Amino acid sequence: MMPTTDAMIQLIHVSKSYERRTALSDVTLDIEKGEFVLLVGPSGAGKSTLLRLLIGEERPDEGQIFVNGKNVSRLKQSEVPFLRRKIGTVFQNFRLLPKKSVFENVALPLIVQRASAGDIRRKVIETLRAVGVEHKKDQLPGSLSTGEQQRVCIARAIVNGPVVLLADEPTGNLDPERTAEIVELFKMINARGTTVVVATHDPHVMTLVNRRVISLFQRSLSREQQTRASVST
Ligand SMILES: Nc1ncnc2c1ncn2[C@@H]1O[C@H](COP(=O)(O)OP(=O)(O)OP(=O)(O)O)[C@@H](O)[C@H]1O
Ligand SMILES: [Mg+2]
Repeated sequence: MMPTTDAMIQLIHVSKSYERRTALSDVTLDIEKGEFVLLVGPSGAGKSTLLRLLIGEERPDEGQIFVNGKNVSRLKQSEVPFLRRKIGTVFQNFRLLPKKSVFENVALPLIVQRASAGDIRRKVIETLRAVGVEHKKDQLPGSLSTGEQQRVCIARAIVNGPVVLLADEPTGNLDPERTAEIVELFKMINARGTTVVVATHDPHVMTLVNRRVISLFQRSLSREQQTRASVST
């Protein structure tokens, strides 16, 4: 089956349960190329589940999911790494390697792709500079503040120029000032052409971003979101 639009992300009647617990029920939505979308909803609404489905970490029970024209609901396990190279992810619990330096953590996606040493050095430094933590490049993640670690995660997610950036509660541990800085970073990445999807509870983020909001409510889209919400900038 092919996607029915040229959207960057398309879900068609997607449902997902864990044992008997429904995480997502009959979700249909499009996210266009270059959009910056907020995914909101109460705890347990299925935000993280939706993001995990998009990177092939979970499979839907029903429905189709397309990312960048690929049917990710039907990917073979061996195809998942190729999908991941096109999608940058920022998880709430960071997942940084504690014994590797900031530089090495951010270099990982490039090493996996067998980039040359010169390319790795150039791209890692350039990305660390863009997110404002270049001066921390030789330190271990544990010696950085939460906000700095969050920036390192974002650097790692964008270093290989992903077409999509997915972030799950990226400002969950940050104060309002740091939150505003991270939102600015996402806007910058989006302005370079990357489609950005941020799952968040944080009303402050919604005010700062002021773009289309997709509300997950009781495991499906809230009624007013079933029709296409307007995009405001
Ligand atoms: N691995 C899992 N095993 C069993 N149930 C799960 C699993 N992951 C999620 N669920 C269930 O699926 C539902 C949706 O969970 P999900 O984590 O996607 O919600 P969320 O919107 O991200 O919530 P939060 O805002 O708290 O992060 C919840 O009822 C949750 O208990
Ligand atoms: Mg979650």
